[in-house]
This record gives sequence, C-alpha cells and structure tokens, in this order.
Amino acid sequence: MGDTLDYDEAEARQEEAIYRTPAAAARRERVRTLLAPEPGDTVLSIGCGPGFEPAEIGWAVGNEGHVHGIDRSEPMLELARERCAPLPQVTLSQGDADALPAADESVDRAVAVQVFEYLETVASAVSELNRVLQPGGSAVICDVDFSSLVWRSPNPERMARVLDAFDDHCPHPRLGSRLAPILREAGLAVDQVEPNTIVNNRLEAGTFAYHLMQFIEDYAADHGAIGRTAARAWADDLREQDARGETFFSFTQFCYLVHKPKTA
Ligand SMILES: C[S@@+](CC[C@H](N)C(=O)[O-])C[C@H]1O[C@@H](n2cnc3c(N)ncnc32)[C@H](O)[C@@H]1O
Repeated sequence: MGDTLDYDEAEARQEEAIYRTPAAAARRERVRTLLAPEPGDTVLSIGCGPGFEPAEIGWAVGNEGHVHGIDRSEPMLELARERCAPLPQVTLSQGDADALPAADESVDRAVAVQVFEYLETVASAVSELNRVLQPGGSAVICDVDFSSLVWRSPNPERMARVLDAFDDHCPHPRLGSRLAPILREAGLAVDQVEPNTIVNNRLEAGTFAYHLMQFIEDYAADHGAIGRTAARAWADDLREQDARGETFFSFTQFCYLVHKPKTA
C-alpha cells in the first residue's frame, strides 16, 4: 500500500464521479445532520476531496461562518476550488491530516470522512484533530470496515481472493469498527456511532457497487496481488450476474460523533 490516494488529474475526476452518486450525497447529508453545523461556525474539512463536503457545509454556516478544507492532493484541491468558488466563506489549502494548518483550539467543528483509514498513523491524526478543536467543539469521523461488505458473486472463491488482495489498498481497512478507543485515547468523548449502509441491487453507473468494481479493477492493473486477468474475470462474473438481475451489494461505513470535553 502507500499510493492508493496519490491521484493524478484523471483519477481525481474519476473519484469525483463517485462523490456525485446519490449514495455519496445521502452520506454527506447524514454526516451533516450528525455534525449539526450552525450559522457562524468555523469548520475544518479534513481530506476534503473534490469539495462537495466543504461546499455543502459552507451553505450551512453561511456568510458569517468559515469552512477550511484541507487535502494533501493538489488535483483534488483543483476540483474543490472550482466547486467552492461561489462561496467566499470556504477556503482551501494543501495540508496533511498529521499536521493540520490550524491553530490550537481554533475550530468549532471538524469532519474527516473516509480519510483516516488511508493514513499510516491514525493516532497522530486524531491527536491533531483534538488539538485544533475548541473545548466543547465536536467532530464527525467516518470510516469503513471492509468486513461489512456483502457482495454476491457466482464465484465466491474468486470474490474472496480479490477482496482479500484488495485489503492492501489502504493501511486500515477495518478502522470503522476500531476507532472508539483511538478517539478516547486522544481525549475525545465518543457520543454516538451511526452506521451508513449502502445497498445496491443493480451494477450500473451511479451505484457504489459499479464504482467500487471499477476502482478494484484499476487497482488490480497496478498491483500484482490480484492481477489484471483475475480482476477482469472477477468483474465479468459481476456483470453477467447483473444481466441475470442477481446483483446484491451492501457496505457499511461507521460515523463517529465526538466532542472535546471542556476542562473544569
Ligand atoms: C476517499 S476521499 C474522501 C473525500 C471527502 N472527505 C468526502 O467524503 O467527500 C479521501 C481524501 O483524503 C485525502 N487524503 C488522504 N490522505 C491525506 C492526508 N494525510 N492528509 C490530508 N488529506 C488526505 C485524499 O487526497 C482524498 O481527497
């Protein structure tokens, strides 16, 4: 693992297509409901990606508020700049979750959706999050656990082999079920854990299943563990199954609402 999220311009656009899907939009709405940003709030969007997240939170905090989106990927930030251009309350900058470009106790709320599972050092990113949050401030951290993936296939052995090899695409493919102790260790209080389950019964553009299948095929082309031919056969299984109307895909992301306790 190591370079899964080192996007070039075309890969960033491909990822942007995933964030346009109804399932991704519904997840962002769910995260915003948990985060409950208020007009005037200062919010940090960690790993803001193509900018849907800071733009939508920008609408919620209004002109009196401020959203600072940070991402380590310049091609992602380019997309985010286009998307957030009409919103003066949103600023964007290149930065790392491990060394957040924000002063101590300077933000009311923060959000990190599907970012921490890609970091080598989750504990130091969580500690950075704790540093920048104001006492009483809150955050939502959302990560997957790939064990939650139920993906029907006519060839279960091949499916198991491919998913097993795909586990290497990020350092923490099970982080979604392991975050609470890491958050508490950093001094944050865990208030709520909400599952966000995506279910698809069609394999077509716009579904999460379709885009994950493409992502796995592309990953396989660059990484020997699966191999281009095996990945193609695996995807063909899924396409043929879909033609028979037998697609079933279910995947759960876990969203943690936390706050930084006020000291007495
Ligand atoms: C899967 S995308 C999620 C995008 C966004 N949070 C959303 O849900 O719409 C992960 C993003 O995290 C960014 N990222 C990965 N590692 C990072 C790091 N160490 N610091 C900052 N951003 C990072 C990637 O460049 C990518 O844009």
